[in-house]
Amino acid sequence: MKKFTVALLYNLKASAPHAANDEPWDKWNELDSERTVAGIERALRAGGHEVIAMEGDVTLPQKLARYQVDIAFNTCEGFRGGSREAQVPAILDALGVPYTGSGVMTLALALDKAMTKRVMAFYGLPVPAGQTFITGDERIDARLKFPLFIKPSREGSGMGVSAKSVVRNARELRDQVKFIIQAYDGPALAEEFIEGREFTLGMLGNLTADERFPRNGSWEASSLRVFPPLEVDLSPCPPEEAGLYTSVIKGKLYEVPKYLCPAPISKTMRAKMERYAIGAFAALECYDFARVDFRIRADTNQPYILEINPLAGLQEGISDIVMQAEADGINYIALINGILEAAAKRAGLI
Ligand SMILES: Nc1ncnc2c1ncn2[C@@H]1O[C@H](COP(=O)(O)OP(=O)(O)OP(=O)(O)O)[C@@H](O)[C@H]1O
Ligand SMILES: [Mg+2]
Repeated sequence: MKKFTVALLYNLKASAPHAANDEPWDKWNELDSERTVAGIERALRAGGHEVIAMEGDVTLPQKLARYQVDIAFNTCEGFRGGSREAQVPAILDALGVPYTGSGVMTLALALDKAMTKRVMAFYGLPVPAGQTFITGDERIDARLKFPLFIKPSREGSGMGVSAKSVVRNARELRDQVKFIIQAYDGPALAEEFIEGREFTLGMLGNLTADERFPRNGSWEASSLRVFPPLEVDLSPCPPEEAGLYTSVIKGKLYEVPKYLCPAPISKTMRAKMERYAIGAFAALECYDFARVDFRIRADTNQPYILEINPLAGLQEGISDIVMQAEADGINYIALINGILEAAAKRAGLI
């Protein structure tokens, strides 16, 4: 591949604007660690690129003006605001700097799980029924059946997900919804609780214009590579985590679950989830890479899409998409450079 000068953009956990009051311990879990950034930087250098790493904050235009960069490698989750993952891409668009990964609209949309589900449902993709709570006092949609699952609508990394997320009646729902709204400073989502095994599928590349729409109600991809599904077997985790992929497991006990990739599932089920994952990538107009999380409902064997992560974590040896790529023979260096290459192609740089 051609060699580029790459601006590696990140938002470090260490730079988060911590409030003086008592924040939940997982409030900034989405942000990058120095280790993740160093790993991506090493991988890009191993690809022969020159790397200039910098915090993607409000001074980004001034910092970027000092260099001649060809492209940015964006990992910025943003510090504040309902559409914070879209802020750095918006700055880059305004400056005319091409970047890796999805664009402004997709990142703003995907950060809101409820809005994302509405878009996916338009194409008939299977998503759990749900309701958004902005104040917590809204009338509960009578079509929703308990038990329900409560989570922040605009967070990730399992933030706000614990055994208390599963609620059995209106009182528990109100308590948990109010806690989430207050603690994470944004809307709460109540959705159908999907009891069953947990999977995630990673993708690398892009769809052709034709593949961005379903054909005969289904989805295919020629140059978007779908990695083998990874099952997160939560059975070795402490019972307090209630069989959920909680913030405690994602943040502190990530070595405890069994990560099975390729997941032990039938060919038919794998093909079904692959089609849905491509459909989600297409529906959200994602670029370059993304990861889609699923649960398969135990009683009906129907897979449900929980969410799509267009800025999936890229920590070497740890992040789900990194394990999925490895199971497909793509090592970390190839994955990171593959993301860069996909973006460079879109930008017409190669
Ligand atoms: N509707 C649901 N039914 C059952 N479990 C759920 C449901 N929604 C979420 N979960 C559980 O909570 C976990 C986190 O949910 P989800 O993937 O939506 O959020 P996230 O925190 O954004 O994750 P990520 O780290 O992938 O960004 C899931 O992996 C699953 O274990
Ligand atoms: Mg998830």
